[in-house]
Amino acid sequence: MIYAAVLGYGTVGSGVVEAIHTNKEKLKKAAGDEITVRYILDLRDFEGDPFESLVVHDFSVIENDPEVSIVVETMGGIHPAYEFTMAALKKGKSVCTSNKALVADCGYELMQTAKANNCSYFFEASCGGGIPVIRALTTSLAGEEILEITGILNGTTNYILTRMADEGSAFSEVLADAQALGYAEKDPTADVEGHDACRKIAILISLALGKRVDFRDIYTEGISRITPEDITTAKAFGGRIRLLAGAKVTDHGLEAMVAPYMVGKDSPLYGVNDVFNAVFVRGNILGDSMFYGRGAGKLPTASAVVGDVLECAKTLGKHASFGWDDEKPEMTAKDGIVNRFLVRIPDAYAARAAEVFPGIVFADSGIFEQCAFITEEMTEKDFEQAFASLGPNASCIRVK
Ligand code: HSE
Repeated sequence: MIYAAVLGYGTVGSGVVEAIHTNKEKLKKAAGDEITVRYILDLRDFEGDPFESLVVHDFSVIENDPEVSIVVETMGGIHPAYEFTMAALKKGKSVCTSNKALVADCGYELMQTAKANNCSYFFEASCGGGIPVIRALTTSLAGEEILEITGILNGTTNYILTRMADEGSAFSEVLADAQALGYAEKDPTADVEGHDACRKIAILISLALGKRVDFRDIYTEGISRITPEDITTAKAFGGRIRLLAGAKVTDHGLEAMVAPYMVGKDSPLYGVNDVFNAVFVRGNILGDSMFYGRGAGKLPTASAVVGDVLECAKTLGKHASFGWDDEKPEMTAKDGIVNRFLVRIPDAYAARAAEVFPGIVFADSGIFEQCAFITEEMTEKDFEQAFASLGPNASCIRVK
């Protein structure tokens, strides 16, 4: 028998316990031994819950039980998740998590601790929920030089943007409705301001490059300033607005950014709607590939965690390395990052726009007395300088 403990019996933690129970036979066959949850750590009691008897309130019970070899951390946040993870790894217990904040902040250190204690730290569920993209990057694609990863990595914002486009509604209206339906958090800042997606792309590109990309070095903008007019103009150009988290290897360093972009029909990311996530990966041998699926939610996320639990069970007493070094890659500063931009301006500014963006072609913006155009590729700095001369009512969005 292989014993596991689950820290945090919220949405994901309860999904993990349910999934391990539901797929008991399948897991036994794959692991060669039965995997069972011995403890659930939570501050609350769960009267009437089928797994009520497993609930404990003191982490030291788990830490000091030598028969528990796998710990699932689904608490979220940094503290006390960090302390509990560290303590479990130091006891040689492998840890699986969905906690992207902790992985992005302390992943390297926790993996080093796992290595020193002949156990593993796995975090498939931290990026893209149920989409198995981390294992793909670190196994099947491990022989590739990864040139680009661009993802729709946040389900909440994708849901909001999809509904804004379908209904013509304002951001604040859709957000309030999404909160009432339980799709968005009460404090939606991490999702809508792009912080969640930023941590996820930092993890993915760190794994792909085998280097330590600090999420604090990634320029991040959210979707809270997107207006129905922006969406109308994107539609007039045949596109959709999506929050993209991207990282691209260039001759002048790694360009990484999280921001809303207009995505055209020719992009594989165009058809990714609602709460779905997708991760586009470009490798030097493979070329382009895309991973698509449910990026959030109880059971999709639990599915990814359970895959990690199984991997832990199959590698007990050993360390599985991801080759994530301490070295930081050279990063291009935001000013030097190259993008194209969709710009909308009052018709009165068309002549000025033609001066500062030579060669542009104007098109209907879909908004009364305003025109729009798409720039050539240019650096963020050059764009900002030219755009600043287009008056207070000009608006812009990057183009993928
Ligand atoms: N808040 C996240 C999202 C949950 O909306 O994608 C999954 O990480």
